[in-house]
Amino acid sequence: MPAFPTTLPIARTPEPAQAPPLRWGVLAPGRIAGGFVDALRRNTRQQLVAVGSRSADRAAAFAATHGADKAYDSYEQLVADPDVDVVYVASPHSEHRAQALLAIAAGKHVLVEKAFCRNAVEAGEVVQAARAGGVLVMEAMWTRFLPQTDVLRQLLDDGMLGEVVTVLADHGQSFDPDPADRLFNPALAGGALLDLGIYPLSFASFVLGEPDSVVAAGRLTDTGVDGQVSITLGKGAAQSCLNTTLWARTPTRASISGTAARVELSGPFYAPGVLTLTGADDRQLVREPDTVSGHQGLCYEAAHVAALVADGVFESPLLPAEETVAILSTIDEIRRQIGVSLPGE
Ligand SMILES: NC(=O)c1ccc[n+]([C@@H]2O[C@H](COP(=O)([O-])OP(=O)(O)OC[C@H]3O[C@@H](n4cnc5c(N)ncnc54)[C@H](OP(=O)(O)O)[C@@H]3O)[C@@H](O)[C@H]2O)c1
Repeated sequence: MPAFPTTLPIARTPEPAQAPPLRWGVLAPGRIAGGFVDALRRNTRQQLVAVGSRSADRAAAFAATHGADKAYDSYEQLVADPDVDVVYVASPHSEHRAQALLAIAAGKHVLVEKAFCRNAVEAGEVVQAARAGGVLVMEAMWTRFLPQTDVLRQLLDDGMLGEVVTVLADHGQSFDPDPADRLFNPALAGGALLDLGIYPLSFASFVLGEPDSVVAAGRLTDTGVDGQVSITLGKGAAQSCLNTTLWARTPTRASISGTAARVELSGPFYAPGVLTLTGADDRQLVREPDTVSGHQGLCYEAAHVAALVADGVFESPLLPAEETVAILSTIDEIRRQIGVSLPGE
């Protein structure tokens, strides 16, 4: 049994402002795109140079609000811009495959919002295209690049929890059930799993890797997407219990319990927060939240992309492309068990 440490590991995450600047183009200026570029502007040296929308007015409004030099009324023009190094794809999940492939074909690096694609087949296609094209592709699973996640990584790598027995994580939000909204619309690949459940699933994958068993129970919305799902993943002797819902705000906390100690992440666990390590005798070490808070934490994934590109490394060692595909393959199996299929898949 490892001895309880006297201090928590120090995060090795580089300061986001240290990353060399890349020139970013935003594809699809919706809700999260504004948060992303705001996090870049406040915390990094990354440059927003252009935005592409299906509408000239929306592109112009986003460019004016966020200080982009160029506003395009098509995604094709955005990806063709020679001043754009990297494209941030922030559209609904149904569009990610085609738009990532569009950017890759234009020779751009791509950061694709979570969930990376609708399913593992689409994700594999995008990864293969990026490899063939010699460009970076990464899923914007921002939690993976936060300093607290690096502390957790070191605790796990050093065996400080002993044998991991149980992983618990949930992500539920309460949304207005608008059938046209991308969250409820099957044509836009709505549903709790791809939007919210991807966080607990990615967390379980980070801790235990690809599961060797998947058991899911769910309820569908009137529109036929997954409204709520509870999942048990097995990996050897360990189990993850995960939940996601579109119908209620859940605590959005996560924990990893091992034979020697447990780690708890305060809610929302996927954003910068409090990390607590508790030993078998209830001794505790607490890591307070980072100064970069909430969605400002999106700066870490962008800085990671910029650092990789500067080093000529086109796949992230912190979130390998294979893992992104494997997580979607788990979601494929969950959807099969609860009876959700999406049009156009
Ligand atoms: N990292 C995070 O914390 C976080 C938070 C929220 C969402 N997300 C992810 O970010 C992505 C976008 O989410 P969001 O909430 O920002 O979406 P949103 O507000 O609905 O915006 C999506 C944008 O995509 C464009 N679009 C392209 N094709 C579309 C279509 N067929 N229907 C509707 N819009 C279309 C639209 O922009 P134009 O028409 O102007 O081009 C729209 O504004 C999703 O993958 C989601 O999971 C991440």
